[in-house]
Amino acid sequence: MPATVVVGLQWGDEGKAKVLDELSERADIVCRFQGGANAGHTVVVDGEKYKFHLVPCGIARPGKPCYVGNGVALDPAGLLDEVRHFEGRGIDVRHRLVVSNRAHVVMPYHKSVEALAEKALGDAKIGTTLRGIGPCYADKYSRTGFRMADLVRDGFAERAKARLADVNAIVEGVYHEKPLSFDEAVAPAIDAARELAPMVGDVAKLLNDALDAEKEVLFEGAQAMLLDIDFGTYPFVTSSNASSLGVSAGSGVAPWRIGHVVGLLKAYTTRVGEGPFPTEANDESGARLREKGAEFGTTTGRPRRCGWFDAVASRYSVRLNGVHELAISKLDVLSGEPVVKVATAYRLPDGSTTQQFPATLDDLAAVEPVYEEHEGWTEPLGSAREPGDLPVAARRYVERLTELVGVQAGLVSVGEDRGATIRWKR
Ligand code: GDP
Ligand code: IMO
Ligand code: MG
Repeated sequence: MPATVVVGLQWGDEGKAKVLDELSERADIVCRFQGGANAGHTVVVDGEKYKFHLVPCGIARPGKPCYVGNGVALDPAGLLDEVRHFEGRGIDVRHRLVVSNRAHVVMPYHKSVEALAEKALGDAKIGTTLRGIGPCYADKYSRTGFRMADLVRDGFAERAKARLADVNAIVEGVYHEKPLSFDEAVAPAIDAARELAPMVGDVAKLLNDALDAEKEVLFEGAQAMLLDIDFGTYPFVTSSNASSLGVSAGSGVAPWRIGHVVGLLKAYTTRVGEGPFPTEANDESGARLREKGAEFGTTTGRPRRCGWFDAVASRYSVRLNGVHELAISKLDVLSGEPVVKVATAYRLPDGSTTQQFPATLDDLAAVEPVYEEHEGWTEPLGSAREPGDLPVAARRYVERLTELVGVQAGLVSVGEDRGATIRWKR
C-alpha cells in the first residue's frame, strides 16, 4: 500500500488540515514530516474547532495513531502544551502520538535569537512566525543542534550549557543584548522532554513496519511549495522542504513508497509575512476575500494578504510536487464576487509573456500578471455535495483551474466543516 502525501501548493493555509481530515478517515496513520509549530492547521467537526501546530491533525479522529517525523523542528514545551490542551478536551493523545527520537529540538534560545534577528532586519525582515524554526534548522545543518533523544540523556545539561555560551556570544556580540540564562533558554525544553519521553520513539521504523504490513500512511504537509527552502520565493520562505520532496528525508520512508500526492490549492491566493505575491489584490476585493474567508493566521493571528488565483505559480508547484490529484478549497468564499480573476501568464518588462515562475526576487517583482476574468456567482455553496449542486459559473471556474494547472481535482471544499466537500467526478 503506497503512502499518500497532502501538500500545499501556494503560500500555506490552503486548508490542508480540512482535506487531511477528510482523507484520514480511511488512513491508518497520520504523520508530519517537516516544519514545526509555525504551522497552524484547523479542523472543524460538528462546529467544534481544533487547531494543530505540532500534533498531527489525525488526532481529531479517535484512536488514530499519529507520528511526528525526524524532519520536524520540535518545540517540546509547545508540544506538551498542545498535548495537554487536547487532553483537556477529552482527547487521548499520549497513547497514540509518537515523536521521532531524531527530530531536532527548537530550544527556547532559538526563539530568542530569531526575535533579535528579525528585529535587526527592520524593513527587510522575513516576517516569520517567531517559533524558532529558522535557527533550529540552521543548527541542525551546522551540526550544533540537539535531537529529542539527546534531551533526556545524562550529561545533556552540560552540552546545552556549552552551546548556550556560543549562542550568548552572538546575543551579546552581535545584538548587544543581555546573555540568556540557562533557566529561561534551556531548562523549559528539558522539563518538557522528560514528560514527553514515553512518546518518543523510532518513527522511521514504525512507518516502514506499517507500510510493510500494508497499512495506509497519510503524510501531513505543513507550509507549502512557494515557502519551500529550495523552490519557494527565497529568502522569503520557511527553512524546510515544505513539499512532497521533503517526505523521504523527513520521515525515513523511501521515495518509491510515496505513491500518491494530493496538492492543495485555495480557489484564490493568500500569503502571511513578507515576500513577493504577484496576484495580491491591494484593493477592496482583497479586503473582501480576507473578510469572507476569515483570512487571519491560525498561529499568529496576523491578517493574511489576499489576491487572485495564480495559475503560473500553481503549475510550477504542481509539477515539482508531482501532484496526482488536486484538492481545491474555499470555493464558497468566492460567492458574491462580481468578477473572479485568474492569472494565466506573467508579462515581463520587455512586453513578452511567460509561463515560467522566476527564480529570483527581482525577476518576480518585475512581472505583471495577465488576468482572465470569470463571471461570478451569488449563491452560497456551503451545502453543495455534488458538482451538479454548484452554479454553472462555479463549476466552470473549477474546471478552468484544473485545465490551467493540468491536473484533475479529486476534492472541492466548500466550507470549513468536516463533510463540506464535493468529490469531483472525472
Ligand atoms: P492549513 O494550514 O492549510 O491547514 O489551513 P488553515 O487551517 O491555516 O487555514 C484554512 C482556514 O480555512 C481554516 O480556518 C479552515 O477551517 C478554513 N477552511 C478550510 N477549508 C475551507 C473551505 O472550503 N471553505 C471555508 N469557508 N473555509 C475553509
Ligand atoms: P501552514 O502549515 C502560512 C510563513 C511565515 C513567514 C515564512 C517564514 O499553516 O500552512 P517561519 O516561521 O516558518 O520561519 O516563517 O513562512 N509561514 C507560513 N505561512 N502558513 C504556514 O503554515 C506558515 N508557516 C510559516 O509567515 O512568511
Ligand atoms: Mg495554516
